[in-house]
Amino acid sequence: MSEQLSQHQMNDQGHLLIDGADAVSLAQEFGTPLVAYDVSAIRDQIRRFKSVFEENAIAYEVSYASKAFASIAMYQLVAQEGGHIDVVSGGELYTAMKADFPMQNVSFHGNNKSASELEMAVDQQIGVVILDNFHEIELLTKILASKNAEINVMLRVTPGISAHTHEYDQTGQEDSKFGFDINSGQAKKALEQVLANPRMKMLGVHAHIGSQIFEVNGFVMAANKLVDTVADWHDELGYEPEVINVGGGFGIRYTAEDDPIAPEAFVDAIVKAVKARAAERNLKTPAMWIEPGRSIVGPAGYSLYTIGSRKDVPGIQSYVAVDGGMGDNIRPALYQADYEAVLAAQPLAEPEETVRIAGKYCESGDILIRNQPLPKTKPGDVLAILDTGAYGYAMASNYNRNPRPAVVFVEKGDAKLVVARESLDDLVRLDRKL
Ligand SMILES: Cc1ncc(COP(=O)(O)O)c(C=O)c1O
Repeated sequence: MSEQLSQHQMNDQGHLLIDGADAVSLAQEFGTPLVAYDVSAIRDQIRRFKSVFEENAIAYEVSYASKAFASIAMYQLVAQEGGHIDVVSGGELYTAMKADFPMQNVSFHGNNKSASELEMAVDQQIGVVILDNFHEIELLTKILASKNAEINVMLRVTPGISAHTHEYDQTGQEDSKFGFDINSGQAKKALEQVLANPRMKMLGVHAHIGSQIFEVNGFVMAANKLVDTVADWHDELGYEPEVINVGGGFGIRYTAEDDPIAPEAFVDAIVKAVKARAAERNLKTPAMWIEPGRSIVGPAGYSLYTIGSRKDVPGIQSYVAVDGGMGDNIRPALYQADYEAVLAAQPLAEPEETVRIAGKYCESGDILIRNQPLPKTKPGDVLAILDTGAYGYAMASNYNRNPRPAVVFVEKGDAKLVVARESLDDLVRLDRKL
């Protein structure tokens, strides 16, 4: 059995269950390729993050990084859980508006927000614009003046620490397209500009040091650096920070090779570090915000495919092809991401061979899993790739003019279509004849 699955995820027929719904039936009812989310898993993870802050008695917000998977239903779900969201485009902001998401709980990120995106943010009176560069300060200054408006801002800073999956370094992050560099004094200059503008309320600082991180030390170092930075600003300029936002990036387990601590354990370590450092620096502990994306939706998502053709290259490799691929999950092709898969009808069956799971796209690199042990498969079997909920559908494309899959939310056995499958007409909707 895949270590990614637990015993309670099977029904009497031995089929894979996704929050109480039979994965084989979901594939029959909604068709494949299909992305199915276990809604209880999403809710539980948000709640686990919240309890860490509550146990540590610190003011907080859990802001879902919606780039991991954005849809109207997803924003509604986060709103139900009392979470914040961060958006990185006018498109995500618009989707949140369509979900009636409370705009005061929205943070807006991005290294090149356009004037129209910033206008939208100001018109919607969103919670906070996370300023990324001097050009944006200038743009926002003009927009606020022309609209006679005010807005909360934070400064995204680069603390000089970058974390990779299993390691971190202390200099790399300065060479980043995002944010104001602390060490060279850019961040302080940005702070002075913001403090001089009565239309901007400076809430605090933000840093995001990377994604799919397994190493807690990088986060702790970054958090300490953020506290030191605001403490210096407090000492030098009398600035009172309200929020320290440490971003997201908490690593998840995709395969048996991955062994991260639980996402909330990262947060616990960071919170304790922030509290301790703030006390050392005689700073009133600011509220802490986090922006997890992957850890909230990644493990909750399943990609269901129907197996079609097979190619055996004698003595070399067997390819088992499915009806989706890089168009609905580009991560393996883009950065060699690994996943595990099971047959939805017999997830516990002993593997009989190791095969390569190929997509249907016209690219040799369209391989979803390079080495997947499986029982013998036949055309028509439903394959479930596990833990595909983050940055899968979110990065989906219409490459080869394939329609993007449908998305369903399953909660305690009830499945609801939340993103319809694209139709062939959808594919030509924007085309114009000569
Ligand atoms: C600013 C910011 N916050 C949060 C996230 C979410 O990261 P993750 O999905 O790894 O938690 C990202 C991801 O790139 C990000 O750029």
